[in-house]
Amino acid sequence: MSRPFLAVASALLALLFLPQAHAQRTMSFADHQVPEGGTVAIAVAEGLPAGGSFDAIDTRSDGALRRLAEAEGFKGRKDSTLDLRGFAGYDRLLVVGLGKDGVEPLLLEDVGGTVARTLGKARASRIELVWDGSEADAASHLAFGAELGQYGFDKYRSRKDDDAEQASPGTGELVIRSHAGAGAASAYASDWQQVAGAVNFARDLASEPGNALWPEEFVARVREQARGLPVSIEVLDVPAMERLGMGGILSVGQGSVRPPRLLLVSYRGGAAGEAPLAFVGKGITFDSGGITIKPGTNMWQMKGDMSGAAAVTATVLGLAGRKAPVNVVAVAALAENMPSGSAARPGDVVRTASGKTFEIISTDAEGRMVLTDALWYVQRQHKPRLIVDVATLTGAIMTALGNDYAGLFARGDELADQLLAAGEASGELLWRMPLRDDYAKGLKSPIADLRNGGATPGAGVAAYFIGEWVSRDVPWAHLDIAGKDWYDSAKPTVPAGATAFGVRLLDRFVRDNHE
Ligand code: BES
Ligand code: ZN
Ligand code: ZN
Repeated sequence: MSRPFLAVASALLALLFLPQAHAQRTMSFADHQVPEGGTVAIAVAEGLPAGGSFDAIDTRSDGALRRLAEAEGFKGRKDSTLDLRGFAGYDRLLVVGLGKDGVEPLLLEDVGGTVARTLGKARASRIELVWDGSEADAASHLAFGAELGQYGFDKYRSRKDDDAEQASPGTGELVIRSHAGAGAASAYASDWQQVAGAVNFARDLASEPGNALWPEEFVARVREQARGLPVSIEVLDVPAMERLGMGGILSVGQGSVRPPRLLLVSYRGGAAGEAPLAFVGKGITFDSGGITIKPGTNMWQMKGDMSGAAAVTATVLGLAGRKAPVNVVAVAALAENMPSGSAARPGDVVRTASGKTFEIISTDAEGRMVLTDALWYVQRQHKPRLIVDVATLTGAIMTALGNDYAGLFARGDELADQLLAAGEASGELLWRMPLRDDYAKGLKSPIADLRNGGATPGAGVAAYFIGEWVSRDVPWAHLDIAGKDWYDSAKPTVPAGATAFGVRLLDRFVRDNHE
């Protein structure tokens, strides 16, 4: 064979086998049946009632399963598991407790996640999860949870077989056996699998270090992920932003050798001519603080300061993937915040595209700076019916709410209540915070329309600042997700690391209010 041919062939092969960000077990669906061996998971309600898979295996093992459960103190409580190796002909049998509160989608997702996380790394090429119910919807939520729980980001590890938190979930399949049978597969593929793909895509983006993901690269990854989806993509580069006078985003990006971008991903699955929902995300691919440089401890975590942008963009790709009947646009305000000879200084006055000016007090309050122009542009171009922005905006919100809730700041109770409800339903919880008109006082500047910091309460005035770029006629909510974007320890459906907080929430918000 000729050399050029070999070169081309090997390049094509390399393309086919691009390192995946994470290995995944594929989800499949089959009829209900309790396998007699292999790697199997079952679920049982509190009190270990008779009549289901637990009972079947107990009978088959001459009561050994109940005796073991008794000995181990396993009662089927929620969040409890019984993990047996080499028992009754099984390589591994995992019994997951369901508690007694009834089976809600979130519980199913947690069960799927627990199974994937506990058994996913086993060598078995096939894991079987037996569910004693018959709804296709339940099977979907189990698979959704499993797909979220098995996520790991291991593309930079040369040894993927150790059992570190982030290690590879292994390959093969995870079979969900239920009375819904194999028919559950198509519903899953066209709906929740799309959302799982969106969540895991957002996690990939937020896990990437700053030397692998910068504004243009973020755009390239989104283009790749959007291939084949019915979305349209618009990107503003520096000359385009200069023409529009977007000093807000340009001033944040001017210290970096990697230029900023404004990315819009629009999906029109709803009625023609109906105003879209707008989801706007902070996309700082690395936040050093700029000239107001951050302390070194934990500065590395600021590679995740684009989590809001990742969440809103991924949400829209997920909505397009599952063909949601809604019009929606995601805006990612992308910049790298770096100190350098060309960086913006504290004291600089910046004119944004709307004409409003602000004085920079801290170059580390850059999230609100990039969002000004993103908000102005999406209102001008798309006339949205509402706006939700998502941003890792302030350390103050972490002090206030810890890791349990993201801060919700809103003008308008209806939108706030819908988002709070979506938070409860999706497991991505929000807590409403005050947004007072008199926060304006703290943001007065002697030289410009506003100043970008130097006032309290930190998270509230940040929200207020952003709101100054949103028309009072448009319902608007701001989610401060600092501290929610990254978990140090895992939950069943959220492995440690990048959480993609916001994707499940916004998808649920759309399902419940706009479909
Ligand atoms: N990206 C940070 C906020 C942050 C902190 C996110 C910790 C996640 C974890 C943001 O740009 C920032 O630095 N905010 C400043 C604002 C201040 C200078 C007014 C903050 O919160 O200290
Ligand atoms: Zn900052
Ligand atoms: Zn930041």
